[in-house]
Amino acid sequence: MKIILKNQKLENIPCDVLIINLFEVESRHGVTLRGGTGAVNLALDGLIKKIIKEEDFKGKIGSTLTIRTNGSIPAKKVIIVGLGEKEKFDLNAVRKASAAAIRTAKREKAKTACTILHGVGTGKIDTKDAAQTLTEVSQLAIYEFDKFKSKDKKEPKKEIQTLIIAETDKSKLKDIEAGVKKGNIVAKAQALARDMVTESAITMTPTKIANIARKVAKENKLKIKVLDREACEKLGMGAFLAVAQGSNEPPKFIEIKYTPKGKPKKHIAIVGKGITFDSGGLSLKPANSMETMKDDMSGSAAVIGTMSTMRELQPDVAVTMIVAATENMPGGKAYRPGDVIRSMAGKTIEVLNTDAEGRVTLADAVSYVVKQKPDEIIDLATLTGACVVALGDTANGVMTNNQELADKIIRAGNEAGERMWQLPLFDEDREKIKSDIADMINTGSKGKSGAQNGAVFIEKFVADIPWVHIDIAGPSWIDKENEYGPKGPTGVGVRTLVNYLTNYV
Ligand code: BES
Ligand code: ZN
Ligand code: ZN
Repeated sequence: MKIILKNQKLENIPCDVLIINLFEVESRHGVTLRGGTGAVNLALDGLIKKIIKEEDFKGKIGSTLTIRTNGSIPAKKVIIVGLGEKEKFDLNAVRKASAAAIRTAKREKAKTACTILHGVGTGKIDTKDAAQTLTEVSQLAIYEFDKFKSKDKKEPKKEIQTLIIAETDKSKLKDIEAGVKKGNIVAKAQALARDMVTESAITMTPTKIANIARKVAKENKLKIKVLDREACEKLGMGAFLAVAQGSNEPPKFIEIKYTPKGKPKKHIAIVGKGITFDSGGLSLKPANSMETMKDDMSGSAAVIGTMSTMRELQPDVAVTMIVAATENMPGGKAYRPGDVIRSMAGKTIEVLNTDAEGRVTLADAVSYVVKQKPDEIIDLATLTGACVVALGDTANGVMTNNQELADKIIRAGNEAGERMWQLPLFDEDREKIKSDIADMINTGSKGKSGAQNGAVFIEKFVADIPWVHIDIAGPSWIDKENEYGPKGPTGVGVRTLVNYLTNYV
């Protein structure tokens, strides 16, 4: 969908649907409609006011009402979308309203839609942010993955081709344009992450991930290194390779580097868990839990998606992306519960459960990048079922060795509409991964603080570099559509990382 900007009055623009908005009020009696909504109401001779009263439309957040204009203005239909309570208005309200509006437009089979920028008049949100958010959500809300549907089963495309943003205030145009541009870049990156996860493990192998990474690197003029099993062996990656040894798919260790034109403000490492399928290994998962385990490479999709924005966004930080991609499978060659393995950092790991494989692969991924002494390490991983139990698919779990960094990431995530919630790491938790015969176990206290057990394990490998671990196991997959798109893989993490790299460093 193309998003274009018009310095024209909303009510004069020809389109299939015109999207206007309304804040929530108790009663519609005597209410004056302001801004674009007021202008459209005037052009329609008070029709909007009449109908919202008759239909008892309250303006609840994300609710919509569609009206035919009968030729009184160039737009064929008007969609009124509720913005919710004015006092609570924020970017999340823009998200809910924009998604509801664009989906309604799609249902109305609109080819061209025109919208106002929601809520800028409140002074509560910045114009550029409003435009970026509207763009991101509008693009992502209509995202579809139909690559695997046979042609005759495909629903006829009812795609909206153009979304016009109408703005009469000339002084705002530059900001809106910048917001739309960034929103499109971010939405495209997140769609790439979604595509990668949705595709499924039969084709989305470590080799395929490496090939996508190569393509992203080429398109963005970034340096890339892909290490195969032998190269990883030479580097002593005993942890990563232990997980990989049960699979017939060759593992790939992927590194991409972005360097800004000027002197980088910082060097940031972003590390994504890349298990293309997590069967649990010999500690096999029950069938139900395995159903969605193609999504165990969501972290890698998020960091690769993020790297795909570098050429256009050009942040002033150096970024190193790491993905240790492999499958986790059972079989005659698989690593076993009880095995003691040696990681690249020289620390030994007693594997008590082969299903806690993510942290084992991340140990070597993190150790590899620690050698480059980055200023910060951020890892994204679908690491634990415990985090899903704690936070559902609503929020990502944040764990850290550096509160200042965590505070920034939490803010960057929440601002981008990816909820972040911190879980504490106490010294008592760190005690729980002690092993009798090795440096650590890969599990922890049974049935207790599972998300933290994973985090304190990774922490052992970050060598005091400021580090934030984001457990995305919940939000990486949704069972019901939300404002950002259909059920299934969400591509979570891209928006947080992009916001952090471009606005927080
Ligand atoms: N990939 C899973 C975690 C997961 C669970 C992701 C649900 C998404 C949805 C991870 O590798 C895993 O299996 N973790 C185990 C660790 C346990 C064996 C210590 C878990 O959480 O049960
Ligand atoms: Zn697992
Ligand atoms: Zn896993």
